[in-house]
Amino acid sequence: MATIPSISDSLTAAGSASIVLIVPDAARRGKLDRMLNDSAFPVARGCSTYPESRYLEELITLGCDVFVVDLDANIEQALALIENICSRDNPATVMATSARSDPALLIRSMQAGAREFLAEPVLAKTLIDAVTRALTRREKTQDLAPTGKLLMFVGAKGGSGVTTLATNFSIALTKQDAGKVVIVDMDLQLGEAALGLNLTSQFSVLDALRNEGRLDNDFLSSLLVRHTSGLSVLAAPEQYTPFNSLSSGVKKVFTILRRQFAFVVVDAGMAICNAEETLLDLADTIYVVTEASVPALRNARRLLSYIAGRERSPHVEIIVNRFNGKEFAIDQNSTTKALGRPVDWKIPNDSPSVRTAENTGVPLAMKDSPISRVVDQMAVIASGKPAQSKKSKTLRGLFQ
Ligand SMILES: Nc1ncnc2c1ncn2[C@@H]1O[C@H](COP(=O)(O)OP(=O)(O)OP(=O)(O)O)[C@@H](O)[C@H]1O
Ligand SMILES: [Mg+2]
Repeated sequence: MATIPSISDSLTAAGSASIVLIVPDAARRGKLDRMLNDSAFPVARGCSTYPESRYLEELITLGCDVFVVDLDANIEQALALIENICSRDNPATVMATSARSDPALLIRSMQAGAREFLAEPVLAKTLIDAVTRALTRREKTQDLAPTGKLLMFVGAKGGSGVTTLATNFSIALTKQDAGKVVIVDMDLQLGEAALGLNLTSQFSVLDALRNEGRLDNDFLSSLLVRHTSGLSVLAAPEQYTPFNSLSSGVKKVFTILRRQFAFVVVDAGMAICNAEETLLDLADTIYVVTEASVPALRNARRLLSYIAGRERSPHVEIIVNRFNGKEFAIDQNSTTKALGRPVDWKIPNDSPSVRTAENTGVPLAMKDSPISRVVDQMAVIASGKPAQSKKSKTLRGLFQ
């Protein structure tokens, strides 16, 4: 079996700090190796060729702090390698090095995900400063485990009220002061969470997913907009955009957000995009939003059995929206029967409040209304605080 060409293998002896040199030129690799060793930064592996995918997996599992990738032997291969390393949920820093003083190459390496560009001749101080920055960054990242709760709103049918409820719930949760809250609009094609909050955003989830190599706390923070309530928002794109192959980027985006925020609320729309599986894997709670109509309840039941049948089934709560709308004749018992389980929350039909919120740009959750009272209760429970018993009995348990 072939192994990665190596000039040293000091990982075990070195303890935690470790560096991989992927520098085909033996003289340059040797020089970097000596400079690092002289400064007590041991080189865990030295590669004389760009590693093939199997070897790269082996390198990644070493959990090294820094990858130095030389661009000059084969620029395209080196940039693809940098992109590959950076696309993973991996706190290592990638540094590009090159003897070409070409600003366009520097930009391309940064776009691929490199955090540093070491121009030849590399001075010992430049190299050591860059490695020190990488170690500091890694320590900071490790301190922050992704502990934030992921609360996902998904609709049984289009127009069920997912966006209305997810956005107003997020504001209500922010008001609970139980930790920072962000809402992510994963309705990538036609999302309008930002619009519902009367916000415009220059950037969107798509900017995060399309720049997977650059994703880190700072980059992701720069894509967020803030509502006056304190809620952060990662908006859907303005333009209708078909977008596939999301899963790895989605996982990375939510891992970073769960490090930064106590609560990450997701407007998953109808969850028809292929990020659905990743989101279902990560979710702590799924709020299934339905209406008390036959087609919506039928869909909701199908969604519930799908979620229950998955290997990992998160906590699920059912919300029946517009429950007292005149057009819905389905009563409480029939609704429970149709769903095969009791309803957790009933949101009243309240067109006047909804219209006022739309016209004034002040979200429902910022004012008292029949809808905001229920949403507040949902937020109290989601924040981990004890429910206000009288209200929760009348509101939460209405269908039980
Ligand atoms: N409880 C309610 N009472 C009255 N109107 C409501 C209620 N909930 C939502 N609406 C209104 O219904 C419409 C659809 O709601 P919303 O956009 O939240 O649904 P959605 O599930 O996100 O839809 P989509 O599938 O298009 O993403 C909006 O105009 C909203 O203001
Ligand atoms: Mg919506």
